[in-house]
Amino acid sequence: MRLTVIGTGYLGATHAACMAELGHDVLGVDVEPDKTAALQAGQVPFYEPGLAELLARNVANGRLRFTTSYEEAAEFGEVHFSCVGTPQRPDGMGADLRYVDAVIESLAPHLRRPTLVVGKSTVPVGTAARLAARLAELAPVGAQAELAWNPEFLREGIAVQDTLRPDRLVFGISPGAPAAERLLREVYASLLEADIPLVITDLPTAELVKSAANAFLATKISFINAMAEVCEATGADVAQLSASMSYDTRIGGRFLHAGVGFGGGCLPKDIRAFMTRAEELGVGQALSFLREVDAINLRRRERVLTLADELCAGELTGRRIAVWGAAFKPDSDDVRDSPALDIAQRLHRRGATVSVYDPKAVDNARKKYPELDYAVGALDAVRGADLILHLTEWPEFRALDPRAVAEVVAHTRIIDGRNILDAEGWRAAGWTYRALGRP
Ligand code: UDX
Repeated sequence: MRLTVIGTGYLGATHAACMAELGHDVLGVDVEPDKTAALQAGQVPFYEPGLAELLARNVANGRLRFTTSYEEAAEFGEVHFSCVGTPQRPDGMGADLRYVDAVIESLAPHLRRPTLVVGKSTVPVGTAARLAARLAELAPVGAQAELAWNPEFLREGIAVQDTLRPDRLVFGISPGAPAAERLLREVYASLLEADIPLVITDLPTAELVKSAANAFLATKISFINAMAEVCEATGADVAQLSASMSYDTRIGGRFLHAGVGFGGGCLPKDIRAFMTRAEELGVGQALSFLREVDAINLRRRERVLTLADELCAGELTGRRIAVWGAAFKPDSDDVRDSPALDIAQRLHRRGATVSVYDPKAVDNARKKYPELDYAVGALDAVRGADLILHLTEWPEFRALDPRAVAEVVAHTRIIDGRNILDAEGWRAAGWTYRALGRP
């Protein structure tokens, strides 16, 4: 099929390359010419394992190309995927829908033959119905410009796998879109043949699936982080608590890992947008627990600062603190709402000299907080340090020998904000090792 993918960020670039990999002819569309030029040259402007190879292969074989022209996109595509971002509004907690709206406003006036526009972005429930009406109003072809919703659940770091082998596909289809299901089944034919579960539902349910799934994941993480707080007050060990709970298959161990909490471009802003939308709908109380989920998550960052203060004898000013990790999670260079970088920056504000190292995210971190020092390696970062904070669990940090690290620091003190280093090994090498929710 001839598909367009509008918006070439994390979601769009991955979706475009994966749709080409499935055998479709794909035109990626973005309003930023620098982005389309880089992608056309086979360069991915962010770090996502496996994506650069996939992109380069499909650009080279001619199945994937990029443009800035909506007119060309409308001419080319049978199905248009809208993959633009829905960040948090600068003036509040709700989602900023300007990019989602702009796609419809820019594309619709060029739609002169029957076509399908498919939203993939995470949006407040009710957005799709509004966009469907606007699309039919603006398109010369009228109601034959149909709109469907097909939420995306990809995780950064394994985005390619999540797109080519998703856990499920969800199609949100309205009665006013008679061709939508057939076209979506055709787009995803190879996945459906591979027995990927498919849920066909209405527009509001499809929008809500994504918000609900992210709210659930955030709640699970904050639940175990709340238990970490209780552990800290009682001398219990949250890692053992979590492991013991995980054997109950109704609970399971995934997303039950206590630490500095969740960050990134999705979970934090999505739970806030979800609460805001629920309030608008008059059901704010139903989601009021998400306020607590957010608060627990942010309190973990405070806890690291308190521990750091304690380990530095109540004086952070002038201390040399090394931070391992800047990305919000490993296998990503994304620093949006990253707990690691937030903590690093707060330590700096409290007078510490902070040296940050991350295997992939230093460039993005520097753009955001140029006032921090950035190191070229894990050992380089800790030279002369009074304290190390391990805040993003890259395998590279786990592989370090605590004895070798001890030789270059000023003081052998470490806080493991991800509860993943070998505590016994570090203590045996003479370190004061502290973690979150553990004695
Ligand atoms: C998330 C959803 O998982 C994905 O389905 C959705 O499409 C987009 O949002 P992503 O933002 O890539 O994906 O990250 P995810 O792997 O979910 O991790 C989110 C954050 O939670 C990270 O900061 C991670 O470190 C943290 N986390 C995760 C924990 O603190 N503990 C855990 O047990 C799991």
